[in-house]
Amino acid sequence: MTPIIEVQHVNKAFGGLHVINDCSISVEKGSITGMIGPNGAGKSTLFNLIAGNLVPDSGRILLDGEEITTLSADARFHQGLLRTFQIAHEFSQMSALENLMMVPPNQAGERLFNTWFKPGLVRREEEEVRRRALEVIEFVGLHHVRNELAGNLSGGQKKLLELGRTMMTDARVVLLDEIAAGVNRTLLGDLMGNIERLNREMGYTFLVIEHDMEMIARLCDPVIVLAQGSVMVEGSIDEIQQNPEVIEAYFGSDAA
Ligand SMILES: Nc1ncnc2c1ncn2[C@@H]1O[C@H](COP(=O)(O)OP(=O)(O)O)[C@@H](O)[C@H]1O
Ligand SMILES: [Mg+2]
Repeated sequence: MTPIIEVQHVNKAFGGLHVINDCSISVEKGSITGMIGPNGAGKSTLFNLIAGNLVPDSGRILLDGEEITTLSADARFHQGLLRTFQIAHEFSQMSALENLMMVPPNQAGERLFNTWFKPGLVRREEEEVRRRALEVIEFVGLHHVRNELAGNLSGGQKKLLELGRTMMTDARVVLLDEIAAGVNRTLLGDLMGNIERLNREMGYTFLVIEHDMEMIARLCDPVIVLAQGSVMVEGSIDEIQQNPEVIEAYFGSDAA
C-alpha cells in the first residue's frame, strides 16, 4: 500500500479539551476512504489538521511521504491537497460558470512567471480556463444552470459546484466533510457518481466524513471509525458494521 496521507501520533487540544488523542491514520493513494464517528469525535478537527487550517500540538502529518505538519493551508492547496468549502457569500452573486473560473490555479508560481514574461500565453490561458470550466460544468451535470447565480442553485447543485471547483486545480487528495447533508436523493446520486468517476478516471484520492451510511457503504473502502479523537477501528463497511465496539459506540447510540 502506498499512503498519500499519513497522520502520525497527532494530538490537538483546545484549552483543556483534548480533541485529538495520539491519532494515527493512513490514507491509501487512489482510495475513497470513509470516516465516521459520533458527533464531537474530532472528525472535522482532524480534517482541519490535515488541510492546514489547524496545527497539531504534537505528531506529524505527511503528504505523499513528505512532512507537511506546519505548512499553511495555502501551501498544501498548491500541492494538490484540497477540501471543499461552502460557496462563499461573495461568490453567490456570480454565475456557476464564473465560480469555476475564479478558482485559483494551484501552480501559481509558474503562472505568475508567465504573466510577466509571456503575456500572449496568459491571454491564451484565460481562454483555456474558460474552456476547462465549461468541461467541468458539463462533467458535474450543471451545464443547464451554468449562467445561474451560484446563490440561486439548490443545496445539491451547490455541492456539485464545490466538487467542480476541485477539478479546476490539480487535485490529488480531496477532503469532503459531510457533503450529503441536505442534498436530495437524485443529486446525491449524481454527486456519488462524480466522486467515483473522479476517483477512477482522474486518480483522485478522497477522504470522506459522512453521516449518511448509505453513501459510506456505496463509496468507501476502507472506513475509519473515529471516537474520542483516535481510531477505534478500521476496515471494510461490513467489518465495521459487525464490530461489537462500533455497534455499541456508534450504531448503538443511533438506535437509542
Ligand atoms: N476551534 C475550537 N475551539 C474549541 N473547541 C473546539 C474547536 N473546534 C472543535 N472543538 C471541539 O472539539 C470537539 C470535536 O469537534 P469536531 O472536530 O467538530 O467533531 P466532529 O466533526 O467529529 O463532530 C467538540 O467538542 C468541539 O466542541
Ligand atoms: Mg464535524
